[in-house]
Amino acid sequence: MNIRGLIDRTTRTFAQEGLPTPRLDAEVLLAACLQTDRSEFYIHPEREVPPDRRRRFARWVGRRRRGQPVAYITGEKEFWSLPLAVGPQVLVPRPETEILVEEVLRLASSLPADPRILEVGVGSGAVSIALATELPRARIAATDISPDALALARVNARRHGVDGRIALMAGDLFEPVRGPFDLVVSNPPYIPEGSYDGLPVEVRCEPRLALLAGPDGTDVHRRLIADGGRYLKAGGWLCLEMGEGQGGRLTAALEKAGYTDIVRRKDYGGRERVIRARWR
Ligand SMILES: C[S@@+](CC[C@H](N)C(=O)[O-])C[C@H]1O[C@@H](n2cnc3c(N)ncnc32)[C@H](O)[C@@H]1O
Repeated sequence: MNIRGLIDRTTRTFAQEGLPTPRLDAEVLLAACLQTDRSEFYIHPEREVPPDRRRRFARWVGRRRRGQPVAYITGEKEFWSLPLAVGPQVLVPRPETEILVEEVLRLASSLPADPRILEVGVGSGAVSIALATELPRARIAATDISPDALALARVNARRHGVDGRIALMAGDLFEPVRGPFDLVVSNPPYIPEGSYDGLPVEVRCEPRLALLAGPDGTDVHRRLIADGGRYLKAGGWLCLEMGEGQGGRLTAALEKAGYTDIVRRKDYGGRERVIRARWR
């Protein structure tokens, strides 16, 4: 069977399963399987797919039909135009988290030329690696409670040549680090525990530790806000990703803790996604 036939057939299969982006998924999986770029499919749709690749592709299609995220199947996800290794030990980096990176870069103009930055909950390394590539003089520390996530972040940092500038440490939130930092950034877990059963199957394939944070999804934010001041310089920034509907409660928590200059940013889907504030 040729490329066009295989993609059309797989797209129909995925659509019948109710997957939200059937053609994209089919193309991304086939491109990874053939170790090529999706643009090649439009140039040479008539190319035959060798039998060994067809067999592997069929196995991958089966995994996708069972709900596994495309990125876990291919083992890779692009973030900030950087290819990153991903697996079930980490959250799949989301495009909306690029808003968090953009906000840190916006704040960077108010920071020293060689800022000390801490990321809490580094996961695959997406945010820290993006920041290290954009801010070549930044010194970045990054923590995660999951040693398996840290191992993958290390692989990704090495792949992008920034492992010498990101100190990766295992532990609970700030526990492994010493401040003060110019900026603390985090995309913490923010899904309310009661919502877990209603999540799409592919999200439930991701580590619970990366998803869930107490009854209203703000348990980890609240700890970051409460303890952040002890790790920030005066005038330093706390910059957090958040879920829909959490902005009001987090603004109140930041004000109560004594932060100023609180700003909420929307993602490209129009949802409030990032909140940042300045330590007094
Ligand atoms: C939503 S994921 C974000 C991963 C990555 N920064 C990204 O944006 O793709 C949250 C991460 O926080 C980590 N985490 C959860 N609780 C933590 C804690 N108490 N201390 C440190 N890291 C924690 C999880 O293991 C997970 O890697």
